[in-house]
Amino acid sequence: MKPSELRADIPLLDNIIYLDAASTTPTPKPVVDAMCDYFYNYNVNTGRGAYKLAVKASERFRSARSTISNFLGCNEHEIIFTKNTTEAINLVANGIDLQKGDSVIVPNIEHHSNFVPWLNLKRKGVNVKIIKADEFGVVNPAEIEKNVDETTKLITITHISNSIGSVQPIEEIGKIANENNLLYLVDVAQSAGHMKLDLMKINADFIAFPGHKGFLGPVGTGFLYCKDENVENIVPINLGGGTVSDVTEDSFTLDSSPARFEGGTQNISGIIGLEAAVKYIKKIGIDKIEKHSNKLTKLMFEEIYDIKNTICYGDPENIYGITSFNINNMNSHDVAKILDETRNICVRSGYHCAIPAIRHFGAYEHGGTVRASLHYYNTKEDIQILAEVVKNIAESFGD
Ligand code: ALA
Repeated sequence: MKPSELRADIPLLDNIIYLDAASTTPTPKPVVDAMCDYFYNYNVNTGRGAYKLAVKASERFRSARSTISNFLGCNEHEIIFTKNTTEAINLVANGIDLQKGDSVIVPNIEHHSNFVPWLNLKRKGVNVKIIKADEFGVVNPAEIEKNVDETTKLITITHISNSIGSVQPIEEIGKIANENNLLYLVDVAQSAGHMKLDLMKINADFIAFPGHKGFLGPVGTGFLYCKDENVENIVPINLGGGTVSDVTEDSFTLDSSPARFEGGTQNISGIIGLEAAVKYIKKIGIDKIEKHSNKLTKLMFEEIYDIKNTICYGDPENIYGITSFNINNMNSHDVAKILDETRNICVRSGYHCAIPAIRHFGAYEHGGTVRASLHYYNTKEDIQILAEVVKNIAESFGD
């Protein structure tokens, strides 16, 4: 499947240059169709009724879990549906038994969703050790190893920085976690659906996934991969219908995973859409997506880097899907506004929910960065138009 065929399935792209995949991606027609089919033809609850429509909805929900686990090469019951990556991370941060005096290791370039839930544990007396990335936004595994001691219980890290796109050595860090018998969480918000992920090699206990970014699924979907042996390490925090196998007047018995973590009526249409999205990604081919995105990322970085009065963040040899930049003496929001007003170019600007990272890169004074992020639907022309407008802005206003 060519990028032009994907574009044809996303009418929204006819009128805009969409370079904000790191926030969310537009939804292709087959994904919308799968959700409409649910709403029009079997819009009932799952796991609750014995009538035909309820059985159909339950089977389709189950099928989504199976499609996703097959795609990733894990067990069906290792997938716990959530509403986004943030919820998946919170499930772990608030569910594992961390005590006063325990410590967790967290890099300083994380998205707030893999930062704030850990800082919040300070209230319990948990020590949060912050590891500084280098100037290109890469975390050195040796720095992590140096900070492991007898109080350390968990290491967490994002695969790809959402603010500048730097790729982290997650397999090497996984080895450190493994050798030291620590829990290991990886946030793949910016890599899932964008590149092949080998769960065996990553060897994490927990991996937090979005549904609505690289996978091209609907908003309101995400999931946590929770390695079998860790199910008992997390206490479910959202108890209620669907999470228990028995209840008496004074006690309850938790159901097995994933049911124990998926309390209440789920985002059924969203998960059905997510299944269609994962099938769609499979149809395009994850290797093709990766090759295309790698090529366009390099082009995007180089084109902007070559423009006078611009600052680009990160090492072009080690970023993926994202180019974050600023124009000297301009606020990032002003640049983004002009890109939109002149050529309908959609990029995110600001702190990208990663204020410590933005401070680390020295971009706080620019009000953050301008972040252009791509997917398989983007073309060389999109990048050239972006570069052309950035050049005009830099010549007119930058110095
Ligand atoms: N996490 C998303 C971003 O980085 C929303 O833009």
